[in-house]
Amino acid sequence: MKKILLGVTASIAAYRAQELARMLVKAGYSVHTILTENSLHLVAPLTFETLTGNPVHTASFPGVSGWAGGMGGMEHIRLKEGASLLLVAPATADIIGKFACGIADDLLSTTFLSVLCPVVMAPAMNPNMYGHPALKANMERLRSWGVTFVDPAEGAAVCGDEGYGKLAGLDDIFRAVQDAVR
Ligand SMILES: Cc1cc2nc3c(=O)[nH]c(=O)nc-3n(C[C@H](O)[C@H](O)[C@H](O)COP(=O)(O)O)c2cc1C
Repeated sequence: MKKILLGVTASIAAYRAQELARMLVKAGYSVHTILTENSLHLVAPLTFETLTGNPVHTASFPGVSGWAGGMGGMEHIRLKEGASLLLVAPATADIIGKFACGIADDLLSTTFLSVLCPVVMAPAMNPNMYGHPALKANMERLRSWGVTFVDPAEGAAVCGDEGYGKLAGLDDIFRAVQDAVR
């Protein structure tokens, strides 16, 4: 059974990662979720734990809320073991920026630096954010390191702005996963 690390960040589209987790589990993947601390304002660990049958990881340090434990206090290193893919969906502008700059100040960004497997990211954000040169430069940098992006869809954002930035269709993300772990 192939192991997928599913990173979920604090985009309004985070709720859709729940359905994505279900799709991946049904397709036979072993899904291990990493929620950023900010994403906890939008989605609940118990949902992912129930859907995937695996503990959900949030914090790097014992004693901090969201620490799943069981890895000798080295989750940021151990999570990568046996992983076929790191999928970040939805990916905020923030996590894209952190990955592009090598910042490792939380469990997901630290895990990014430690994995040797392919990385797929599905950005989701306001169209103006998605069009910002800072975001584009960060994505370009990550692409040059081999990261694959599943392009966002066009349409009206929750805030009402129109353009590209909505999380890609789950079928598109699923196909990118299959291509990456093949
Ligand atoms: C309700 C709400 C929705 C948000 N949606 C998005 C989003 O879709 N994309 C994005 O890049 N940031 C979004 N943000 C801003 C991020 O949550 C913020 O940049 C945060 O620091 C990201 O944290 P993380 O990357 O550690 O999860 C949203 C913020 C709020 C309050």
